Amino acid sequence: MQQNIFAIKAHILYAQTPQEIRCTEDGYLVCEAGRVAGVFPVLPEQYRDIRLFDESGKLLIPGLSDLHLHAPQYSFRGMGMDLELLDWLNTHTFPEEAKYKDLLYAQAAYRIFIDALLHSATTRACIFATIHREATELLMGMLEASGGVKGFVGKVNMDRNSPDYLREETGESLRETRRWLAGCSGKYQNIAPILTPRFTPSCSDSLLRGLGELQWESGVPVQSHLSENESEVAWVKSLCPDAAHYADSYDRFRLFGGEGCPTVMAHCVHCTAEELDLMQERGVFIAHCPQSNTNLSSGAAPVRLFLERGMHVGLGSDIAGGAHLSIFRAMADAIQCSKLRWRLLDQSLRPLNIAEAFYLGTKGGGAFFGQVGSFEPGYLFDAVLLDDGSLPHPQPLTPLERLEWLIYLGDERNLAGKYIEGQRIF
Ligand code: GUN
Ligand code: FE
Repeated sequence: MQQNIFAIKAHILYAQTPQEIRCTEDGYLVCEAGRVAGVFPVLPEQYRDIRLFDESGKLLIPGLSDLHLHAPQYSFRGMGMDLELLDWLNTHTFPEEAKYKDLLYAQAAYRIFIDALLHSATTRACIFATIHREATELLMGMLEASGGVKGFVGKVNMDRNSPDYLREETGESLRETRRWLAGCSGKYQNIAPILTPRFTPSCSDSLLRGLGELQWESGVPVQSHLSENESEVAWVKSLCPDAAHYADSYDRFRLFGGEGCPTVMAHCVHCTAEELDLMQERGVFIAHCPQSNTNLSSGAAPVRLFLERGMHVGLGSDIAGGAHLSIFRAMADAIQCSKLRWRLLDQSLRPLNIAEAFYLGTKGGGAFFGQVGSFEPGYLFDAVLLDDGSLPHPQPLTPLERLEWLIYLGDERNLAGKYIEGQRIF
């Protein structure tokens, strides 16, 4: 029997477009060499002899992508949520991140985070670490060993407007980043480095210039924050009088998408039309983080507009701006946030529906990692098996109804299996 090919029987659901969730009831998904060979209502003759895993009754969906989260902030998620962004950073975030200089603390804290991530439906993630090179390497090594997620981890860069205990000198920040990148080379299979200027207020022009040069030399992708909060946007305007807008404060140092510079920007709540044009032109991904945007009173991003324009957009938990690691939860939050925006702010942008939210959490965000987040032929087979046995209902529900229910009500107890690139994780 061939080893690198198998089939799973289940109710198979996935998004190809934001408009529709495709469902094959009691169908067969064939995985060959880590990729989807096809989804079939009846197992084709040519696959009659391959291994078949019978998961009848369960739902099989693509693994979820978390385009934005801060690993060191997992320890204070759900705490200190009464402040807005800049005060929250100074009061809660920076003191906690400073603790990661201590590798024993980092190890204990990252262990808890990684166990939670492993047992979540997230199969791909873009993760911020801290400014500390050694703790960042520790996090990467621990994530690699857990095998529970693939994606990017960034050593954070900060050289200004930050407390002394969480700041590097410009030259030191660049040297440490180069040293970190060199150390990552050939070391990991599941985890790759991503350049991570925290946000413009934390990074001087010389630091951003140096990171732009490093990006140009190395081709390493970029992640940061953009237009999250009104005070932050005003601050960037006064810090960068020569920049055309917040997006330009990255773009002028070649840290904003385009050929050879994959980029993800978190939030984009207050972007101008000009900034959105630039993002679209450069193929910059937006990490929409609805729970964080409500917790920190940042606002409500115009996600419907992003989708209508055909921009790259996915979901982020933004731990600890968001308190929940679950991207199912982020789907429900995105819908709810869009409804309040529509009712209170702008009736021209209809709220999101369940198919659109599901698309954002699967194929929309997955695209940052390649052919990820769908079950179309050729896609990498990242998937989760869902068992809603803990959610009894008096009537039989369709697989689509069950998926909608799980998006709003499910948790890690409903996760019956996880696959990444064809490998069963549990
Ligand atoms: N902007 C700069 N740093 C952060 C952070 O840690 N979290 C959020 N939500 N926004 C930021
Ligand atoms: Fe963030």
